[in-house]
Amino acid sequence: MQIAVIGAGTMGSGIAQVALMSGCEVILTDTSQASLDRARSGISDSFVKLREKGKIDIEQSVMYLEKLHCTTQLEAASGADLVIEAIVENLATKKEIFTQLENIVSPECILASNTSSLSITSIAGTVRHPHRVIGIHFFNPANIMKLVEIIPAIQTDTAVCSKTIDIISSWKKIPVVAKDTPGFIVNRIARPYYSEAIRILEEGIADIATIDLAMTKLAGFRMGPFTLMDFIGHDVNYAVTESVWTACYYEPRYTPSFTQKRLVEAGYLGKKTGRGFYDYRNDAIQVQPNDDFDLLTTISERILVMLFNEAADALYHGIASRDDIEQAMTTGVNYPKGLIAWAQEFGISRCIEKLDSLFDYYKDARYRCSPGLKKLLI
Ligand SMILES: NC(=O)c1ccc[n+]([C@@H]2O[C@H](COP(=O)([O-])OP(=O)(O)OC[C@H]3O[C@@H](n4cnc5c(N)ncnc54)[C@H](O)[C@@H]3O)[C@@H](O)[C@H]2O)c1
Repeated sequence: MQIAVIGAGTMGSGIAQVALMSGCEVILTDTSQASLDRARSGISDSFVKLREKGKIDIEQSVMYLEKLHCTTQLEAASGADLVIEAIVENLATKKEIFTQLENIVSPECILASNTSSLSITSIAGTVRHPHRVIGIHFFNPANIMKLVEIIPAIQTDTAVCSKTIDIISSWKKIPVVAKDTPGFIVNRIARPYYSEAIRILEEGIADIATIDLAMTKLAGFRMGPFTLMDFIGHDVNYAVTESVWTACYYEPRYTPSFTQKRLVEAGYLGKKTGRGFYDYRNDAIQVQPNDDFDLLTTISERILVMLFNEAADALYHGIASRDDIEQAMTTGVNYPKGLIAWAQEFGISRCIEKLDSLFDYYKDARYRCSPGLKKLLI
């Protein structure tokens, strides 16, 4: 099978590696020769590491690299069975690429976008044969993360969707199907993990280290929300929140925060710049958490019920099946349990009571209980 990957940046090079290691011939294209050079040497370095770990042998790594063709010519994608576009996150630029690709590839070729936030339907709407356009959303790093969201546009053929799922499964990834809506599954349902934590901080209920401790020690998450936001980078995390919020017609549940916006404006982007919510410089004083059990419980339950509500709401609105929602949150962002099963374990009535009391106190629509949660009572 021949795969063309358009865009040789962070995601494109990771996707190319996955396809190579599944035995595909890969055409990697980019307008920048420097990006292509970086991608080839990055993939090659990754094969060296895999060899050192005994995961692949020298013959395999030579064979994979022989099957990788890097070029600045988009026309080289002409023989592809599947094209995955991973260029800059700009709708006009993506539409332009898809229009060009349509005149290059065969009529059977599937045209996919790795966009995190743009409408697949809108991209499909620009081409003559929109039935073969689909979203294939990998997570970063694409060569490591197992989850892949498959997003059919409203124009996409069911056969194209099934074929895409088969290809992604054959690449040893875990595909989940998401409705073409802002943030798809993971980037939508995960929003409260960040935003509710920031609210708790802004209200002076607890500091970052205490909120992180509540979510790791009590709720069992691998990283607390502030550590995780610092790790993702506030530029990226803020942009996703703002994009989901705007695309959802300013839904109050997704409202971004000034606290995070100021970090972006200051260039305190997190670990990568040495400073975010935490200070990563050598001489920095570490914040000591408060380990009062009642405080930690209040914090973790408030964030958890917001996550439960979000997952139930996504299910209610048909964003994905229950199984795919559970799978997406446990494999895409390593949540300790599927949120719907977790909500049931926590108690749906208890969850509704907590949300109602937050709503009564704040009179803020972000705390309204989803009908999806009430439906889980039945
Ligand atoms: N980085 C992430 O965590 C992540 C995760 C999932 C999805 N995505 C999505 O994947 C896509 C790529 O993101 P990235 O982080 O790899 O970006 P990146 O900036 O690392 O790479 C983008 C590459 O596209 C190239 N490019 C730009 N315009 C082009 C064009 N017209 N034709 C050919 N190549 C072009 C650039 O030269 C660059 O090499 C975006 O749509 C992004 O939303 C990113």
